[in-house]
Amino acid sequence: MALLCFAVLVFKFATVVADMDYGGVPLWINRLLGEPSVMSLRGRMDPAWFRANNPQACPQQCDCPIQWPTALYCDNKGLADIPDRLPDRTQYLFLQGNNISTLSSSFLANITDLRWLILDHNQLQSDKLDQVALQNQAQLCYLFANHNHLRSVPSALPAGLKQLRLAHNQISSISPGAFQNLHNLTQLLLQGNRLQTITEGELKGLVSLNLLDLSENLFSSVPRHLPPSVQQLYMSKNTLSGLDEDSFVRFLHLKYLRLSHCGLENSGIHLQVFNFSSLVELDLSYNKLTTIPIVPTTLQHLYLEANEIQEFNVTSFCREVGLLSYSRIKFLRLDGNKMSYHQLPSDWDFCLRVLESIYI
Ligand SMILES: *[C@@H]1O[C@H](CO)[C@@H](O)[C@H](O)[C@H]1NC(C)=O
Ligand SMILES: *[C@@H]1O[C@H](CO)[C@@H](O)[C@H](O)[C@H]1NC(C)=O
Ligand SMILES: *[C@@H]1O[C@H](CO)[C@@H](O)[C@H](O)[C@H]1NC(C)=O
Ligand SMILES: *[C@@H]1O[C@H](CO)[C@@H](O)[C@H](O)[C@H]1NC(C)=O
Ligand SMILES: *[C@@H]1O[C@H](CO)[C@@H](O)[C@H](O)[C@H]1NC(C)=O
Repeated sequence: MALLCFAVLVFKFATVVADMDYGGVPLWINRLLGEPSVMSLRGRMDPAWFRANNPQACPQQCDCPIQWPTALYCDNKGLADIPDRLPDRTQYLFLQGNNISTLSSSFLANITDLRWLILDHNQLQSDKLDQVALQNQAQLCYLFANHNHLRSVPSALPAGLKQLRLAHNQISSISPGAFQNLHNLTQLLLQGNRLQTITEGELKGLVSLNLLDLSENLFSSVPRHLPPSVQQLYMSKNTLSGLDEDSFVRFLHLKYLRLSHCGLENSGIHLQVFNFSSLVELDLSYNKLTTIPIVPTTLQHLYLEANEIQEFNVTSFCREVGLLSYSRIKFLRLDGNKMSYHQLPSDWDFCLRVLESIYI
């Protein structure tokens, strides 16, 4: 229970402070593995006290708390370069909120056990990133470089990566083969970049990918060549011209689909495009839909607020209504549309019989 409370606290804090939002997806820690606090120590701990009481070597520019001996907090120090002579023991390296533009081939020369490398909110540039800098870090599982100036996804990433967060850069391309060895990668954040397409082979190798965030890019359609293992696909804030019948058929496990602010109209959407049975949550808010699309009876959360919907047709949710055939929708948002509560047909609650909340 204590562990849970702590995690929730961290999450709340992380959503408020911009330089610690880590790409907007909470960073859960596993205390049993000795993972350190994900909060900056800024203003929370007296660095001078640690410096006086911690016998371990610690670069001048960093804070080294006694309770997490393998963590180095060098965040928000105005650093233009990564400190020299990082201690060999370093496993968790916090460098966010600095002014670092270069990753040299040698900065991790004496470190073999690095697990997290956090570089959010710096000035990293693709052409100043030495390709071999990270390659040999066999233990590296989290690499975060959200809010930098990268123009492409780096290549030669270590094969053990589990999370790669590169949100809010200027990425318009993926280096060839960048992902081919990353069989353990489960999260890939690329929102807020300049990607237009993903070609066949570019994401090849990502056999364990679960969460893929491609929101706020320049896609005009759902890319054809995404890893079939994806369970959470976020594509909000792309201007999509439409959705074909087979846009999502390759994803046998897709549960959470976000397509808000995509300019979608009924005319561009195939009637059956969302009718696949793995789907649990669908966000179509802030589009231009005039009717409710057909959704599978397994769907539990549907967001349709701020569209132009004028009618509620029960057949969108239930093909037939019977004792065993009903919609699993629990949460439905229809507010900000062109319809009101009185327009619900008389039989609607027999179809939506497990509904917990409706906004209309
Ligand atoms: C690695 O260790 C050697 C020997 O202690 C030292 O000379 C060198 O400066 C270190 N390199 C880095 C990048 O810390
Ligand atoms: C960050 O680095 C750039 C050049 O790399 C420099 O022009 C700028 O003044 C630096 N900003 C801070 C806050 O140090
Ligand atoms: C991927 O994960 C598996 C299972 O945790 C592990 O045995 C394997 O070593 C990992 N692969 C790499 C390249 O780290
Ligand atoms: C939606 O898919 C289900 C299961 O594949 C199918 O039985 C049903 O007919 C489809 N709905 C419509 C309206 O075609
Ligand atoms: C509801 O949709 C079905 C299938 O699209 C259509 O046949 C039916 O006329 C619609 N019902 C109403 C009341 O609009």
